[in-house]
Amino acid sequence: MPKTIIVSNRLPTKVLRTPDGLSFQPSEGGLATGLGSIYRQDGNMWVGWPGLFVEDESEEGFVRTQLAEDSMAPVFLTEQEIHDYYEGFSNGTLWPMFHYFAQLPVFDEALWEAYVTVNQKFCQAVLAQAGPEDTIWVHDYQLLLLPQMLRAARPHSTIGFFLHIPFPSYELIRILPWRRELLEGMLGADLIGFHTFGYMRHFLSSVAQLLGLPNQHGRIETPTRSVLVDAFPMGIDYERYAQAAASEAAQAHVQEYRAALKDVRVILSIDRLDYTKGIAQRLRAFALLLQRYPELRGHVSLLMVVVPSRDQVAQYASLKEEIDELVGRINAQYRTISWNPVHYFYRAFPFDELAGLYRLAEVAMVTPMRDGMNLVAKEFVASKADQRGVLILSERAGAARELADALIVNPTDTGQLAEALHEALVMPDEEQEHRMSNMQALVKRYNVFAWSRLFMERLAYAKTQQLNLATA
Ligand code: F6P
Repeated sequence: MPKTIIVSNRLPTKVLRTPDGLSFQPSEGGLATGLGSIYRQDGNMWVGWPGLFVEDESEEGFVRTQLAEDSMAPVFLTEQEIHDYYEGFSNGTLWPMFHYFAQLPVFDEALWEAYVTVNQKFCQAVLAQAGPEDTIWVHDYQLLLLPQMLRAARPHSTIGFFLHIPFPSYELIRILPWRRELLEGMLGADLIGFHTFGYMRHFLSSVAQLLGLPNQHGRIETPTRSVLVDAFPMGIDYERYAQAAASEAAQAHVQEYRAALKDVRVILSIDRLDYTKGIAQRLRAFALLLQRYPELRGHVSLLMVVVPSRDQVAQYASLKEEIDELVGRINAQYRTISWNPVHYFYRAFPFDELAGLYRLAEVAMVTPMRDGMNLVAKEFVASKADQRGVLILSERAGAARELADALIVNPTDTGQLAEALHEALVMPDEEQEHRMSNMQALVKRYNVFAWSRLFMERLAYAKTQQLNLATA
């Protein structure tokens, strides 16, 4: 039976080197958590990097065997490739550019060459797994060249591509020296998906202006094939989050946190360490809230979880220092013997503890500078069984296109953010319930299963259309 092969830079399991040997743990990030629920079905599999540099062939063999048991096939990267392709071109060039941090990208031919080489490495790994009838679904900005490489090797294969980050304006894309190659790489797919209509529009405009290929209702005719482009806002595994938050384990964690916090109200912030997430701006807004509303001091805390990420990339290391300093300054200024303004954790939380935090918090602050979608916003919504709680959401997160009942803010406007926090803290219960139930209905319906089903149906349709054209 034909299967679907999911391909992404990072596997949903990451392998860590510990003093006791190699340890296998769930990966962080929206892609891994979002697709993690579905890839195990129907004999499907996942090809990607296990997140560490293996030392020898026996270690490589061990990792390969372990991952195979869970339907994963690893692509091993050398230390140099991790530096040049992952930290370099993917996260030092494409990531800042696609998130509108236009001063940060590095333009370095050697990094680009590593990006091409590693995309080729992924191509070989996928070809080793893929039968002619299999569907190949490639994910994200680390693998923009892969669809075209696969197409060259397998002209008739069904290939989908989904971008999990924003696709920026043509004015940014045109700055990249390798802009044509990147767009042509994506066009190797039969279907290209984005989280929002806005990202899709930017892509179509870039393809028209840089490659001279117009579109008709999202269909691009290349000289050899036609490619469909569409928007598919990604969802979460709603029931998994709802059930986890309602579980006894989460309830036990809530009791434990409550006992420690007494009756202090909790504002929650959870992100990977990233300058796109607006973490420092959020801290400044919380400090402003305490300054403007002194009556809240002693009664509200910001519980901030920052999950370590990409700490070998210079901007991430300096952001970590900025956050440490800001937290220190706010706590030094306002804390009392019995109250801590900011509870700051620089680590990942196990799933049931996370569920406890979602359940505990009255307000979630999801205020990225730019974000393709942001699934934390949806996870918070799914966790609120009693429909109490307020989501403060950046207008520049893809999720804001759907979650109109959140308090929508401009994340750079510190004053507006502080006022939104205040509004959330004084919002009447009925209004909270009204907003939350509207958002829950949407997040429940357009969950990750609906998202992948829709994408796969559309991909099958795109392929049929092509076959019809070829035989016409
Ligand atoms: O959603 C964007 C993304 O880069 C995913 O591709 C990735 O799984 C996640 O963020 C985490 O990033 P990284 O794999 O670099 O830790």
